[in-house]
Amino acid sequence: MESYKLSNGVSIPCIGFGVCNAKEGLEAKNAVLCALQNGYMHIDTAMIYNNEFSVGQAIKESHLNREDIFLTTKLWNEDINKGLNREGFERSINLLNVAYVDLYLLHWPTEGYIEPWKCLEQLYLEGKIKAIGVSNFRKHHLEALAKHASIIPMVNQIESNVYFNNQELIDYCLQQGIVVQAWSPLGGHNTAQLKNDVLVDIASQLNKSVAQIVIRWHLQRGVLPLPKSVTKQRIIDNIDVFDFSLSKDMMDAINALNKNKPVGLYDKDYIF
Ligand code: A2P
Repeated sequence: MESYKLSNGVSIPCIGFGVCNAKEGLEAKNAVLCALQNGYMHIDTAMIYNNEFSVGQAIKESHLNREDIFLTTKLWNEDINKGLNREGFERSINLLNVAYVDLYLLHWPTEGYIEPWKCLEQLYLEGKIKAIGVSNFRKHHLEALAKHASIIPMVNQIESNVYFNNQELIDYCLQQGIVVQAWSPLGGHNTAQLKNDVLVDIASQLNKSVAQIVIRWHLQRGVLPLPKSVTKQRIIDNIDVFDFSLSKDMMDAINALNKNKPVGLYDKDYIF
């Protein structure tokens, strides 16, 4: 699979497998195992998804070399609020049963995110994390962080899909050399996006599924999508996107579908 380069030179596979909502136990383990057996080399979990143990089991059972898998997890607000930043990281690597993670993210710009960011910097310098970043940070959060940080986040993971393309924030991140990962790249629970007439028409012209068109659209605008599925055929289809490309007119038509309406959780408790 093709990859992007992070600002510290680390390569990151250009599509990741998302496991938010995959239930701890057989559902999460089988989905991750299926992904690893079918070409995904990049898995995105989080402490709050409550499936790190199953993700770790799938990695073990895949018999792939640990170095060949790019693994991300995230520090949750509750640990931050309690000042348990390092403990949160250690709990995650114990559950995942790995010696290091490739990418560790601050999950939300919860109040007081400077201290945990310094903890991530420290863990990075100790070699326990190959790259560090943030998630759900807006421009003003990134600017505030930059005033105190020694290391600029290498990644910002944010919601982006056809109806909420988040392009302004993406452009800002790319200008700063921050790789952007898209959560809910297919629209999450808003499956209406996958039935949009413009997308259906492009998909039929190219003999691809709508999901494949959307994933390709993310890649062609320099974004790293994290599609999730617990359905084998969809898991396989969602990375079969390297044998075609979208024309400029197609890209423009998809960009024009933006409604600027997030489908995800933008709760006032999490965003300030
Ligand atoms: P399922 O797990 O039943 O396959 P997102 O990645 O934007 O969060 O979207 C994930 C949602 O879209 C999941 O509910 C997933 O359901 C569904 N999904 C994933 N891949 C496809 C696909 N190729 N076609 C249709 N729906 C998909």
